[in-house]
Amino acid sequence: MAITPPENRLWWNEPIERVEIGWIVVAFLWGLFMFFFMIAWHFIGGQNLSTETYRVTPAAYEEKVAAFAEKYQVDDEMGVPIVRPPAGEDVYLLGRLWEWWPILELKKGQSYRFHLSSVDWQHGFSLQPVNINISVHPGYEQIINFTPTEAGEYGIACNEYCGIGHHLMTGRIRVVE
Ligand code: CUA
Repeated sequence: MAITPPENRLWWNEPIERVEIGWIVVAFLWGLFMFFFMIAWHFIGGQNLSTETYRVTPAAYEEKVAAFAEKYQVDDEMGVPIVRPPAGEDVYLLGRLWEWWPILELKKGQSYRFHLSSVDWQHGFSLQPVNINISVHPGYEQIINFTPTEAGEYGIACNEYCGIGHHLMTGRIRVVE
């Protein structure tokens, strides 16, 4: 019984039951298997995005996105710029309390270098309905090689809780033919 102290105070020096050794070995091997499978899954699972990641200060990232938006802005919607970068260009999106900024307009079948970062807290970039999910952290700029294959209007939701306006944190990417 675990309620009473063991009779032998140095209980850890007692011989281990064979069955217990067996379970320790099983747990250890399973741990090893899971560890290496985590790495293997990156290659065989086709689920993980291979991103490049760089350090960046939130202020520097905000400046880059603002310059990008100003350069390629074609319209605006309730004060949010609609930005149409040329095909193959670097595109920038930032997350902040509580919006994804700006609205991007991309061309179907073209490849872009898609930059993503936050300028305040941790957010979750969730692109719907294709269900691409990326954690977005302040201080880190992630770059994804991105080729939209379907035209349409995609919604971005924040799927990591980031405060009182979390449920309002949405954005849009438009893909045109
Ligand atoms: Cu941003 Cu939740």
